[in-house]
Amino acid sequence: MQNMETSYHIPVLFKESLDALVLNPNGTYIDLTFGGGGHSRGILERLGPKGHLIAFDKDTDAHENSLNDPRFSLVKHNFRYLKQYLQYLNIANVDGILGDLGISSHQINTDKRGFAHRFNGPLDMRMDPESSLNAAQILDTYSEKELLRVFNEYGEIKNAYRLVHHILPQQNMGRFLTVESFKKAIESLIPQKDPSKYLSQVFQALRIEVNQEMTDLQTLLEDSHSLIKTEGRLVVISYHSLEDRLVKNLLLKGQLQGTTNSDIFGRVSLPFKADPHKAIVPSEAEIAANPRSRSAKMRIGIKN
Ligand SMILES: C[S@@+](CC[C@H](N)C(=O)[O-])C[C@H]1O[C@@H](n2cnc3c(N)ncnc32)[C@H](O)[C@@H]1O
Repeated sequence: MQNMETSYHIPVLFKESLDALVLNPNGTYIDLTFGGGGHSRGILERLGPKGHLIAFDKDTDAHENSLNDPRFSLVKHNFRYLKQYLQYLNIANVDGILGDLGISSHQINTDKRGFAHRFNGPLDMRMDPESSLNAAQILDTYSEKELLRVFNEYGEIKNAYRLVHHILPQQNMGRFLTVESFKKAIESLIPQKDPSKYLSQVFQALRIEVNQEMTDLQTLLEDSHSLIKTEGRLVVISYHSLEDRLVKNLLLKGQLQGTTNSDIFGRVSLPFKADPHKAIVPSEAEIAANPRSRSAKMRIGIKN
């Protein structure tokens, strides 16, 4: 079992996230992103017999790691529907919510999923294999404006215009069906000096669009304050600046867009208190043991 869980995914900021999250052994907690179940196992170890953990994952593969524990349930749903799901269960609010965003090591290391530019396979990138739109379809069907939005906003790619104008004349010719054929289609744009950096940005942008990652996170964050009890915790581990900016804005400014909401006396009302003020990052030792953790940033909000 130990091998299975670590080969699927090594949980990042494991102790730090659990120390911040689980303060009531009899409480109800949410793991938004079950993956290999590492964080969920840790939460259950800290819960008493009356505690309860509900986990979400939209990837069918993650459900093979499900845990046999009467205090645990795993839901194959998008976490953006957390509010509706809790209403359905008649749960008014919970003691804490953990989100460990992005993709699992299993997803990136499986060639048939198409997440990694270093493997050949179908250019798919769907976390939820039952969702309708994959990366190849985006490249084949999106307009110039839509492609520019994806690569500018989600990949922060220099000269996205050139990339988009390389893609447009090749649409619907079967050139984007696999990782290799897509790389070949944009070959002349890939810098020789650091091809991996450029491809990672292109692949990240496509992945975020395929999985609607930013809108899912926005919905979840907007709902979170009404779902967490006073003094309960929101703990979010993110892996790129777009995600972290939303979490930081919510915790420090009270608004996802980064503007502040103040009353007529100029007092700012914040749904959460950020504790600590700055993001927590993995130690050098954790990064050495698990290089994937390098880009992680964890933010903790205490519900006001
Ligand atoms: C970084 S991994 C989580 C790893 C996990 N913390 C562990 O210890 O193994 C992220 C997981 O969240 C899932 N996921 C990402 N976005 C999701 C969403 N909007 N709804 C449901 N699951 C999502 C992915 O399928 C993936 O399995």
